[in-house]
Amino acid sequence: MELSHILDKSIESGFLNRDDIVFLLKLDTSSDVQRLLDAADEVRRSCVGDEVHIRALVEFSNFCVRRCNYCGLRAPNTKVKRYRMLPEEIVSLAIELDRKGLKTVVLQSGEDPYYTSEMIAEVVREIRAQTNMAITLCVGERSYDDYKLWKDIGANRYLLRHETANRELYASLHPDGNFDNRMRCLGWLQNLGYQTGAGCMVGLPGQTVEHLADDIEFIRDFQPDMVGIGPYIPHPNTPLAGSRPGNLEMTLKMIALARIVTRDALIPATTAIGSIHELGREMALKAGADVVMTNYTPVEYRVHYEIYPNKRYVLEDSSECDLRLRSRIQSIGRTVSTGHGHSRKQR
Ligand code: 5AD
Repeated sequence: MELSHILDKSIESGFLNRDDIVFLLKLDTSSDVQRLLDAADEVRRSCVGDEVHIRALVEFSNFCVRRCNYCGLRAPNTKVKRYRMLPEEIVSLAIELDRKGLKTVVLQSGEDPYYTSEMIAEVVREIRAQTNMAITLCVGERSYDDYKLWKDIGANRYLLRHETANRELYASLHPDGNFDNRMRCLGWLQNLGYQTGAGCMVGLPGQTVEHLADDIEFIRDFQPDMVGIGPYIPHPNTPLAGSRPGNLEMTLKMIALARIVTRDALIPATTAIGSIHELGREMALKAGADVVMTNYTPVEYRVHYEIYPNKRYVLEDSSECDLRLRSRIQSIGRTVSTGHGHSRKQR
């Protein structure tokens, strides 16, 4: 049977051609889909083991100069209350997270040129000097020199989702975006030696199975160290208001395929998948994921980082979320990592 053959190949080598990928994305009975998710869970177990890595997320500014059609933080959305954390505030929060035992801080913002390369560098330098944490940056498209400076002074990782690997779909969603520049940035980050994260949304308006196959082929060929995949969730104050949200099952299939084609990448069970289903993150962890992020943005700011509406965990106490998360990880038979959770890819 074709499915058994492709799944055996998936577990053994991970090399899937485009036809295999499209075939797997089109599986429609729940038992066939479950076989795909189980195969990815098997690859996860044999390639990276049972540990789940926890990352501390700090959303330090929700200002954004971009106009991405799907995102609630897009510049023309005047309904968002904008905030910026001061560099000292970011550093002292990071020190507190280090004291709590967190091993990675993810510093994320909209594309906010208010923070000069030197300001970000100073934050990285201080966190590097005063803590033992891995530092992940996620501040969008910047110049090669900015990326190089931050890497040289101690940033370890960089997240820049490719959003969609299909040029036409990318253009339709990003009125001011440039697909080639996004890809160029990803190449620079990888060449500079960052542990580099790519990733995409699932269920974007106009997105087809063929487009999703483009994403998996891109992930297979680029081999990112990290892959963030979540469902698209419509935001009322965007041009895409009223569109349909991404589907849970298709998102799980995409996570499974990302695991199969990368073998050992770090793959988060994203907040977005946890926002469309109560058990979304657990399901993702059983379909190939091995990372979760806890939001440590101070609550007074966190409510305003509204990329999409009804984001989970927005009003909860971070330390409580963290504890609950740890017990949920253990309840599905997994262990919480005590290390940094660095990339295992040799380059
Ligand atoms: N729904 C789901 N994910 C979104 N993102 C942005 N807007 C949305 C949305 N409406 C994702 C993008 C971005 C990441 C920070 O959040 O993929 O890279």
